[in-house]
Amino acid sequence: MKAKMPLIGGQTPAPMLWIEIRLDHLRNNLKVIRRLLHPRTDILAVVKADAYGHGMKEVAGALAKNGVRFFGVANIDEAVTLRKACRAARILVLGSFHAGQIPDFIRYRITPTLSSAEDADLFARALASGKKKYPVHVKIDTGMGRLGVWHTRAENLLEEISKKKRLNIEGLYTHFSRADHREKKHTRKQLRIFEKIIGRLGRLGIRPRYFHAANSLGITRFKHSHLNLVRPGIILYGLNPSASGKLPPGIKPVLTLKTRISFLKDVEKGRTLSYGATHETARRTRIATLPVGYSHGYRWGLSNKSRVLLRGRACPVVGRVTMDQILVDVGGVPAARRWDEVTLIGQEGNRKILAEDLARWAGTIPYEIVCALHNRVPRFYKD
Ligand SMILES: Cc1ncc(COP(=O)(O)O)c(C=O)c1O
Repeated sequence: MKAKMPLIGGQTPAPMLWIEIRLDHLRNNLKVIRRLLHPRTDILAVVKADAYGHGMKEVAGALAKNGVRFFGVANIDEAVTLRKACRAARILVLGSFHAGQIPDFIRYRITPTLSSAEDADLFARALASGKKKYPVHVKIDTGMGRLGVWHTRAENLLEEISKKKRLNIEGLYTHFSRADHREKKHTRKQLRIFEKIIGRLGRLGIRPRYFHAANSLGITRFKHSHLNLVRPGIILYGLNPSASGKLPPGIKPVLTLKTRISFLKDVEKGRTLSYGATHETARRTRIATLPVGYSHGYRWGLSNKSRVLLRGRACPVVGRVTMDQILVDVGGVPAARRWDEVTLIGQEGNRKILAEDLARWAGTIPYEIVCALHNRVPRFYKD
């Protein structure tokens, strides 16, 4: 555990804005995911973007202690940070790379994603003096259009890579573009294309150890896509990847975002609030200032839309979100006091405000809500 939970007036300094991370919920989610998988299907935990804003080192550390051996990150910088924290982990960079970064891949034993003959040549040349074969994963584009060799050219590329003495094709993977669609045929088609290529590998004498395709929605909606490795990201953190879909039972949100009332005042009816005067009080009320704004990741698009929880009651954000402060109408909570705790994302009693709610109010997706939480907001880990 990195830091204790904040206490006001206690031994631990009380920040005015902080994130609580429930590692016990993370472990719970891992268990729920494992129950959905065949016992021989392994997990590559996606911890890119600082574990979706949850803190990569702490999240990966907790998962590693619970048997996760394989992690996915976005780039070599994240991979090196993770390598320093997790010496024994397998780390796959899911993104691409610059030729100048290859020495760092080799030095820190990081597995690259190769999408082209150029990628493979660059790696093979850099490894010329090495003795052992270097593990690489080859990505196949079956419809996402991002990284990966287009599937009709995959066999040629795989054959070419397999001739390189220093490279070991340890994994073969693809990524779904429409796993959230009610209509499942697109994802099934991507999977069929991928499986067809897998089926032809024998003829080329290529035997990768891992085949993987499933992200969170692949895991929950497409059992046949599990193959022998899955890549969960967002469901590990207890968030719903799709506004129209349901999370598997038992999944719990890991992150809570909290603040405190920094200032409280009575205002008359007809007072305008914040930049642009987009809100006018309809009655005499009390307005609380909270020290959170878009610079912390509490998005401007939440202006006049979101709610917060105070003493178990939902209170509306009024006026525009500013760089580091927001205003909340707390007229409905007469007991409110300066420095009271306020929940921006999380639960109080039986009321909840989820990252999914903020996403809906701001017109975005929960991924962006948590990834955007700035790292100057301290994270406190509860084991
Ligand atoms: C290649 C790849 N695999 C897996 C994931 C995890 O996706 P999710 O968070 O939807 O589970 C991502 C995330 O963007 C990804 O880029």
